[in-house]
Amino acid sequence: MTDRDALVLGIETSCDETGVALVRVADGRPELLVDAVASSVDEHARFGGIIPEVASRAHLEAMLPTLDRALDTAGVALDDVTAIAVTAGPGLVGPLTVGAAAAKALAVGLGRPLHGVNHVIGHVAVDELVHGPFPERFLALVVSGGHSSLLLVNDIATDVTELGQTLDDAAGEAFDKVGRLLGLPYPGGPHIDRLAREGRSTIRFPRGLTAAKDQAAHAYDFSFSGLKTAVARWVEARQDAGEEIPVPDVAASFAEAVADVLTAKTIAACRRHGVDTLVIGGGFSANSQLREMAAARCAEAGITLRIPPIRFCTDNGAMIAALGSAVVRRGLPPSPLDLAVDSSMPLTRVTV
Ligand code: KG4
Ligand code: ZN
Repeated sequence: MTDRDALVLGIETSCDETGVALVRVADGRPELLVDAVASSVDEHARFGGIIPEVASRAHLEAMLPTLDRALDTAGVALDDVTAIAVTAGPGLVGPLTVGAAAAKALAVGLGRPLHGVNHVIGHVAVDELVHGPFPERFLALVVSGGHSSLLLVNDIATDVTELGQTLDDAAGEAFDKVGRLLGLPYPGGPHIDRLAREGRSTIRFPRGLTAAKDQAAHAYDFSFSGLKTAVARWVEARQDAGEEIPVPDVAASFAEAVADVLTAKTIAACRRHGVDTLVIGGGFSANSQLREMAAARCAEAGITLRIPPIRFCTDNGAMIAALGSAVVRRGLPPSPLDLAVDSSMPLTRVTV
């Protein structure tokens, strides 16, 4: 079997979803066979945030049933797998360790290569399964509960440069925090999205790191904590005055501020680097305000916008199998079997 023909098993456990997927590579082209996901998000809801120990145990319990379900659905035997890809980081150490242990056991048991890969790059790589081969050079905006990163991608398996990132809260994290202060259930992101569609953007909230003085050092970095504080102050002032909070309008104004900064900086980076394709990935790319503004601004700027369907934007195994398949197609060497997970794995490191 050559690297142009492979069956890659992808395992993802960096946060609260246990993802197991199979990508078949035939004649150098990757195709998703199955993407099985088990989530422990409901177990964390009452705590208002992910509890790593709870997530680790849930991964342990879900791993084998999810693997069996993936193999059954694809009609594939475990022995047909030719390579195993696993999230090596970034993410929560306990959850990452459960996935890595499972992947190592499979690699040893089956005698197949193990590839530890970067979760955030996986959020970009999955788009190849949906929209076909990547152009030679493109920009990627990865936005999730843990990351807001702008990446210049020359080769998804070997050459990724970080242009900017959030200096404080990630976009999804800011939504979840504002959700909490508006009294919405955890995670607040999707609730704010829904409410924002009912409201009007009537409040002008600040756009972080967009002032002229920030351009030299932070042209492509993001900051959402000032925005979050501005929303909190605005809401507190109304509450102190005994006024009712127009929650849909606050949500719409806040969501617009986030989408505005993300898209303005991203399009400026596309222009600056002469790139005409943008991929948006990560759980927060489900956000409708971001999707709408990105579509409008990319169309205006002549940039091709690629956003995978929502089920591939939240954490899943397909993203890891997709990146694993890119690594296998390039013929890169496997990771050592004693690979250590790295909770803060740098985004410029695609593989271990
Ligand atoms: O990528 P993901 O599933 O997990 C991480 O790796 O972080 O992203 C989840 C994040 C959460 O913060 C969630 O509130 C946010 O993405 N999110 C949304 C929407 N859907 C998910 N935020 C705003 N609007 C949405 N529609
Ligand atoms: Zn993620």
